[in-house]
Amino acid sequence: MEEYDQFAKEYASGTEDLEQKTRRDFYSSLPELKGRVLLDVGCGCGHDGAYYASQGAVVYGMDVSEKEIAMAQERGCGEFVTAAMESLPYDAEMFDVVTSLYAIQHTVDVAHSILEMIRVAKPGGTIAILAKHPFRNLLESFVNDGVSDYYAKREVTSYIFNKSIKLIENGHTMMDYLDPAVLQSASLELFEEKTDFPASEQVVPGLTYPTYMMLKYRKLE
Ligand SMILES: C[S@@+](CC[C@H](N)C(=O)[O-])C[C@H]1O[C@@H](n2cnc3c(N)ncnc32)[C@H](O)[C@@H]1O
Repeated sequence: MEEYDQFAKEYASGTEDLEQKTRRDFYSSLPELKGRVLLDVGCGCGHDGAYYASQGAVVYGMDVSEKEIAMAQERGCGEFVTAAMESLPYDAEMFDVVTSLYAIQHTVDVAHSILEMIRVAKPGGTIAILAKHPFRNLLESFVNDGVSDYYAKREVTSYIFNKSIKLIENGHTMMDYLDPAVLQSASLELFEEKTDFPASEQVVPGLTYPTYMMLKYRKLE
């Protein structure tokens, strides 16, 4: 999934302006970061990594896009590598905190990627994920691609930043995030469904529905 290589700069400037409240909410759900070793999965250009470093975390980040990683490395706030979330290039039990924002919906197998995050977390460590809500995926796949089956394994076409960027992501169900294998390895401590505008407005005007969700797991000791 190297499509971010094509619009890495546009995505970076768009996200600097938008989503600030969403990110603040997400940050406030995290434990104390001072002195903690943190991995950001699908870190993009590293702006969340820069925030985590400003809070005293020792920051690692990874992303499949070389261009995103090049921008993250320029920030000099952590150790950033090009890799795929499906096979994290880290030893088990390395991190106190594993975060991932707006990235996991790209993977085909969400449960597998969450299990990878759990693998690299220390026992008792936090795994905090902000993901596109499966309902938004469903509505987008219905409106943009004509797919009307919530359960179908499907690709979802999304448009962001006033349609200046087109994304193709994978569709998922809630069950993928609450997979028994995940819940046997980690407890679910937080689950919130949220709506951000204009994300919902641009898909189905007038309909209120969750566009993203936050999940926080704690790896079992
Ligand atoms: C919507 S952007 C989010 C970036 C950043 N986390 C943020 O919140 O701004 C999604 C990111 O996921 C990355 N990505 C997509 N598929 C990936 C994969 N299989 N493994 C790692 N990163 C991936 C993309 O390259 C992109 O940087």
